Amino acid sequence: MSNPLDDPKADPFEIASLAAQVIAEKSGIAKHDIAMTLGSGWAKSADLIGETIATIDAADVPGFTKSEVVGHISTIRSILLPSGKHALVLGARTHYYEGHGVRRVVHGSRTAAAAGCKIMILTNGAGGIKTSWAPGTPVLISDHINFTSASPIEGANFVDLTDLYSLRLRDIARTVDSSLDEGVYMQFRGPHYETPAEVQMAKSMGAHIVGMSTALEAIAARQSGLEVLGLSLSTNLAAGISATPLSHKEVLEAGKEAEPRISALLAEIITKL
Ligand code: HPA
Repeated sequence: MSNPLDDPKADPFEIASLAAQVIAEKSGIAKHDIAMTLGSGWAKSADLIGETIATIDAADVPGFTKSEVVGHISTIRSILLPSGKHALVLGARTHYYEGHGVRRVVHGSRTAAAAGCKIMILTNGAGGIKTSWAPGTPVLISDHINFTSASPIEGANFVDLTDLYSLRLRDIARTVDSSLDEGVYMQFRGPHYETPAEVQMAKSMGAHIVGMSTALEAIAARQSGLEVLGLSLSTNLAAGISATPLSHKEVLEAGKEAEPRISALLAEIITKL
């Protein structure tokens, strides 16, 4: 089935609105409060935060695509939090490197806003540049460098990104774990990992974490008025910082190993939102 977002004449916000309607119908929850996109290593937190009200196949929701990446799941879950708030777990991330265009990449952010969410939590697995970060270290994203040369914003719409990664939300996260470090995330297009020279460039430009997601989704979230919390799991030291070559299998293994710990951390952060 073709994706309605691929029609250049379609309005991506209208499709996000349709997606939100389908989620409301299928979950029976008219309005959600917090949306989460769970990257490598973070998925278990969905099981810890509350009672799952509905699990929806992403392929049944307009604009979403089945994930092509091994280890990534494709469902949308509606979860009732102990606070009475409703969380929407978007398990169907489309990466920019899949080549389907930016509209599909940011559809989760736009759907979250259309579903009523005020907060968007974006998580990922990434390469760390700081040598003090052992594989499995969670890091708060303080800012980003969008190195994709793309933007989700179409037309002359000059959105301010000064405080894109909410200081308020980072401070809340630090009340749960005061040892949480933070850093600037640099989104590369991928899907290849960076070269050591590119990692050195990223470092000299002020980045501390390199990955292949999140920045574009965060920009779209901000455009739609969402407050953004970004968390990376440093699954490995970035290329050239690490003494050994990188492999997707090892990245997934590091994510799995850290998963119980960081999922519990995120679940606790969510109780404070
Ligand atoms: N680079 C880019 N993306 C990643 C990495 C990395 O080193 N590790 C996990 N995702």
